[in-house]
Amino acid sequence: MCGIVGYTGKNQAITYLLEGLQTLEYRGYDSAGVAVLSPDGGLHGVKCAGRVSTLVERCKTANLVGTTGIAHTRWATHGAPTDRNAHPHMDCSGRIAIVHNGIIENFRELRSYLSRNGHELVSDTDSEVIAHLIEDAWKGPAAGDLVAAVRNACQRLEGSWALAVTCADVPGKLVCARKGSPLVIASTEDGAYAASDVTPLAAISSHVIQLDDDQFALLVEDGSVTVFDREGMEVANPSTIDIDWDASAATLGGYADFMAKEISEQPEAIERLLKDRLGKHGIEMDELSMTSEELAAIDRIYLVACGTSYHVCLIARDMIESWAKIPTLCEYASELNYKEPLVTDNTLCVIVTQSGETADTLTAARRMRALGCKVFAVTNVLGSTAARESDGTLYVQAGPEVCVASTKAYTAQMVACALLALRLAFAKGEMDRNEVGRHFHNLEALPDLIREVIARRWQDKHAAQVFRNARSALFLGRGVNSTTAYEGALKLKEISYLHAEAYPAGEMKHGPIALLEPGFPVVTVVPADHIHDKTVSNIQEVIARGATCVAVATDGDRDVAALCHDVLWIPPVPEERLIPIVAIVHLQMLARYVARARGRDVDKPRNLAKSVTVE
Ligand code: AGP
Repeated sequence: MCGIVGYTGKNQAITYLLEGLQTLEYRGYDSAGVAVLSPDGGLHGVKCAGRVSTLVERCKTANLVGTTGIAHTRWATHGAPTDRNAHPHMDCSGRIAIVHNGIIENFRELRSYLSRNGHELVSDTDSEVIAHLIEDAWKGPAAGDLVAAVRNACQRLEGSWALAVTCADVPGKLVCARKGSPLVIASTEDGAYAASDVTPLAAISSHVIQLDDDQFALLVEDGSVTVFDREGMEVANPSTIDIDWDASAATLGGYADFMAKEISEQPEAIERLLKDRLGKHGIEMDELSMTSEELAAIDRIYLVACGTSYHVCLIARDMIESWAKIPTLCEYASELNYKEPLVTDNTLCVIVTQSGETADTLTAARRMRALGCKVFAVTNVLGSTAARESDGTLYVQAGPEVCVASTKAYTAQMVACALLALRLAFAKGEMDRNEVGRHFHNLEALPDLIREVIARRWQDKHAAQVFRNARSALFLGRGVNSTTAYEGALKLKEISYLHAEAYPAGEMKHGPIALLEPGFPVVTVVPADHIHDKTVSNIQEVIARGATCVAVATDGDRDVAALCHDVLWIPPVPEERLIPIVAIVHLQMLARYVARARGRDVDKPRNLAKSVTVE
């Protein structure tokens, strides 16, 4: 959701603060702001509605000089995205500034308490109360001790937070705090740096401290960092993490946008993931942290996720049920949290989350753990909360995904789940080493097949014209490719703002067919599989009503070529269950071309944020 950065050290703070915000902008982009402790002893800042680029322009004339500061890019929850509601927020004296990521659930009570006690709150946000609570503590029980003042304030908060706090009376120091929202810190000779996630720190240090819940950190300009627990005791060995991301991975590198770059990175991401995975005993997956006996005993699996990652679960369910023969349920995390899951003694819960910070998914995982399940995470972000709270973690190694619309993490997560399904199939005795090897070699074919699809992007560019005047679109597919239809529709919706609905193709006649009229765009995923002919019949029904059909089909399919307005061709895929991993690439590119033709910012679609850290 929101992105926060902080710095104290030898250098001018504004440089890192603005660069850091630009790197974190995918976390939210409704408003942005910065506050710097100036040599004159005051706190000076700029904040404004809109993108970080607007803030950068404003800062050019603001002369923000100083070597300690904090900054924020916001995804609005409480209060409209206005200048006034942008962070940092100040206390009454203007000497304490805070930036916050998370939600303060008891902010209404705190607001009225603070107002009754003479504080003047000037924004509509939940976050502003934190600055005033720190002010109270600073003037009272924690006088002169900023860490204690922040600890004291946090004791009164309910909800989630990652905080960075600066105070004009404590030059050269920052205090950070965490509960439920991530915060990482780098300690270097140039100073100490804080950020919501590792992306802005990748170019600064390869080793960072990760605050745990209910921890506080004091960052000092000499680069030292001390971590404290909720009682104020120093933590001797705070959690750390090594960042092995190449800092340039989060730059455009000549591409027009991150979406184009990330689509193009899919083959390499899958290659990385498959490297050294096939061993003597099938798939090597020590990350599972379970013995073969424990794996063999699993009798039920819950796959839990949100959004695009939920679509991964739908594909994974099919692989696990058909290869490992384990009954598998897929749940939207936000729904599971209000259900009574039927957990057995040997139920495994697998959470799939690119960011590893999605609040609904984390809540569901905690609940499943409390019910006695082992929880295994499939995630992309190193050291994310999902990874830290799970019994085992499989990193999909797709590298930083900056575009809000997930592409390379989607395909890499599907491949990760295929590996998991093969591991389970072997443990269950449903497949021998040879059989696992055969499936693995099919997975190894995927990178080149995807490269081939990417080389055919001109087909997507051409087909995008079908959507020029459209107000809605229908996506159809059967079997595993009904999920390709769901994901294709989600991609189109989120980046082009064109309404799109997806259905299993056979269900169209039970309702959605009423939408069809001449020119209505229908995207049908109809690859060479065992239900191909049934799906072709559905295309006939679409054409008969004058609608315009764009198909995703396998090379050489003359029936589909004769029927459809445009065909997005995929090369033959050696295994039906893997077709979604290739076919979706066309729909990612199609969505991007439609969005660009409509003048959309494909990397930062309106109202969205990369990691959704509120329930
Ligand atoms: C993907 O294109 C979406 N932006 C969104 O649905 C996303 O997949 C969802 O919020 C889950 O995120 P996660 O994988 O980081 O948990």
